[in-house]
Amino acid sequence: MAVLVTGGAGFIGSHTCVELLNAGFEVVVVDNLYNASEESLKRVQEITGKSLKFYQTDILDREGLQKVFDAEDIEAVIHFAGYKAVGESVEKPLEYYYNNVTGTLILTDVMRKNGCKSIVFSSSATVYGDPAFVPITEECPVGGVTNPYGRTKFMIEEILKDYYVADHDWNIILLRYFNPIGAHESGRIGEDPKGIPNNLMPYVSQVAIGKLKSLGVFGDDYDTPDGTGVRDYIHVVDLATGHVKALEKIREMKENGADEVKIYNLGTGHGVSVLELVHAFEKVLGRPLPYEIKPRRAGDIATCYADPSKAKRELHWEATRNIDDMCRDSWNWQSKNPEGYDRD
Ligand code: WQD
Repeated sequence: MAVLVTGGAGFIGSHTCVELLNAGFEVVVVDNLYNASEESLKRVQEITGKSLKFYQTDILDREGLQKVFDAEDIEAVIHFAGYKAVGESVEKPLEYYYNNVTGTLILTDVMRKNGCKSIVFSSSATVYGDPAFVPITEECPVGGVTNPYGRTKFMIEEILKDYYVADHDWNIILLRYFNPIGAHESGRIGEDPKGIPNNLMPYVSQVAIGKLKSLGVFGDDYDTPDGTGVRDYIHVVDLATGHVKALEKIREMKENGADEVKIYNLGTGHGVSVLELVHAFEKVLGRPLPYEIKPRRAGDIATCYADPSKAKRELHWEATRNIDDMCRDSWNWQSKNPEGYDRD
């Protein structure tokens, strides 16, 4: 029995494939390589010494997906594939809804037609919008999302919940990620964003390697200890092990029957500010990182961090790596791969 990982060549997907293979799962990856490189999968196999199957297929391609289910014995799906740039989603809502939501409808329809009703969905803390309270528990209200990307995550969560209401044979886990950063300790896989990075850590890494001149810190007048935005940064390998635990939970749900859709926050439970992250990175670098305070970025919130106790209780999972580990591993990846995977 294999686990189908959509978007498995991407940043979180490739790190999850490493942990799945290490845990003894058989892995099949579907990825259209729109925002990823097949090189990452070659390196996943190099790191683990194990092989996986790869199909270059789009989740919108019903026939292509059916070919995968014809060829492979899929027990469950981890669904990462999707567009994920907040700013871009504001400019291209149709593409985001079509790719993320319609793609999920097609994927889950093909799953159902092939008797596979077990899915772990890559959701995001963005569904909490400007959170009603912090630390954020899974009971915190959702839906107050301020951009199309976040709304696709929220809509897909609601769609999957409706599947369960209609058919209790569906085993569904929603994983709400906070801010994934870092890289595998080998430095062979890591975050390889296209163009100028939107997110903080890849931007910091590119300033450190000299690709970008200086970091703009978006606002230092928030109601936070040092005035800069506070987030729950989680090491991507901790996030990956969370998916292995979620699959073990899915197997349990399949055996005993699922009594509900399971929802888990995957975060560290600790808030870290922009400047705290910058200074942690400078410690790794051994030299100052150039930055300047800029105006706030539209849509940003002051503070967001998780209460991860439910995942600890029910998945027997918790993050173990701290911000220094994340900075060390991010820099190790970036310095060994200045051009990422050298996509042509
Ligand atoms: C973090 C902090 C910025 C860049 C987004 C998505 C979320 C998820 C993670 C997909 C904020 C500050 C950033 C920069 C800065 N993605 N910042 N200068 O916005 O918390 O979350 O990525 O699921 O859905 O919304 O992450 O890394 O963009 O920002 O000062 O050049 O860094 O203001 O305080 P964010 P981020």
